[in-house]
Amino acid sequence: MGAFGRNHARVYHSLQQAGSVRLVGVVDPDTSRADSVAHEFGCKAFGSVFQMLTTHSEVQAASVAVPTVLHLEVARSLMEAGVDVLIEKPLAASLAEADELVRVAAEHKRIAQVGHLERFNPAVRATLPVIRKPMFFEVHRLSVFTPRALDVDVVLDLMIHDLDIVLTFVQSQVKEIRAVGLPILSGKVDIANVRVEFESGCVANFTASRVSTERVRKLRFFQEGQYISIDYGRQDVLVFSVGRGEQPSANPQIQVGKPSIVAEEPLLAEIKAFLEAVGSRTDPVVSLEDGRKALALALEILAEIVRHAGRIGVTA
Ligand SMILES: NC(=O)c1ccc[n+]([C@@H]2O[C@H](COP(=O)([O-])OP(=O)(O)OC[C@H]3O[C@@H](n4cnc5c(N)ncnc54)[C@H](O)[C@@H]3O)[C@@H](O)[C@H]2O)c1
Repeated sequence: MGAFGRNHARVYHSLQQAGSVRLVGVVDPDTSRADSVAHEFGCKAFGSVFQMLTTHSEVQAASVAVPTVLHLEVARSLMEAGVDVLIEKPLAASLAEADELVRVAAEHKRIAQVGHLERFNPAVRATLPVIRKPMFFEVHRLSVFTPRALDVDVVLDLMIHDLDIVLTFVQSQVKEIRAVGLPILSGKVDIANVRVEFESGCVANFTASRVSTERVRKLRFFQEGQYISIDYGRQDVLVFSVGRGEQPSANPQIQVGKPSIVAEEPLLAEIKAFLEAVGSRTDPVVSLEDGRKALALALEILAEIVRHAGRIGVTA
């Protein structure tokens, strides 16, 4: 029931009011936090997953929004008890932990979804039908610094959202990574710029910062005859298409399209999709394998940042 766990509780509470789910309780070893959220959303507070499950064996699904280093421990105890899980991003702190999550989910036949929220952003969903063969991405995710408990660097904290989206859009293996990153305020990498080249020839430039003076959430990409611009924050998409008309010599005509979008809170859409997968026992939209892929790329980027820092004699 930290900063993000409370958001999950709020969404389950709203779904409970719509009648589709019953919010049994919230868990936090910091019992004052659990008590306060339980009070706010009219459910029970527990100091541990074990305590919750011994009192309420009927629990079927849970969100795991503990610090990333504890995802495996908490998600494993839930899955071993037969509970389906929505695990926050990044999936885990290492690939070995991610692999263990994949193994435990398979062994206990659990539905396990990863909290890559932007997949459920209406702007991203409206873009999927337009994607053909993206060749160049320019991505910016900039946040204003807020002092909070940061157990991970900006690549695992923020950039991983865009890594997952670009991996989904491109569907090609990574060929080469160039990266620079610096700690500014937190002691971990707070700003990073990365160039990823894919086997398909596509190139993606990512910038992520949590020490910016403005908040920006934009992904722009080009494919033959088209430029597509997504604003995650405003939940809108613009599609610029070039047409040449009948005469090949005529000046290009640029048409601007704006796919219609019904605004929805991505976390609400994510939790609804998770509960649908739980109910129908079907594969979740964002699988553990997807979460592992995004994590693997993020960890390779971090290794590249360290190599680059070593080459130029600074600390990353
Ligand atoms: N999807 C997103 O956009 C998004 C945004 C923010 C955070 N997150 C992710 O959510 C997770 C939590 O982040 P946060 O910012 O809320 O962290 P936080 O530090 O604010 O909260 C974590 C909470 O987990 C509690 N906790 C520790 N051990 C526990 C255990 N064994 N069982 C139950 N609770 C336990 C802590 O007491 C704390 O209250 C992280 O993985 C983070 O990356 C995702």
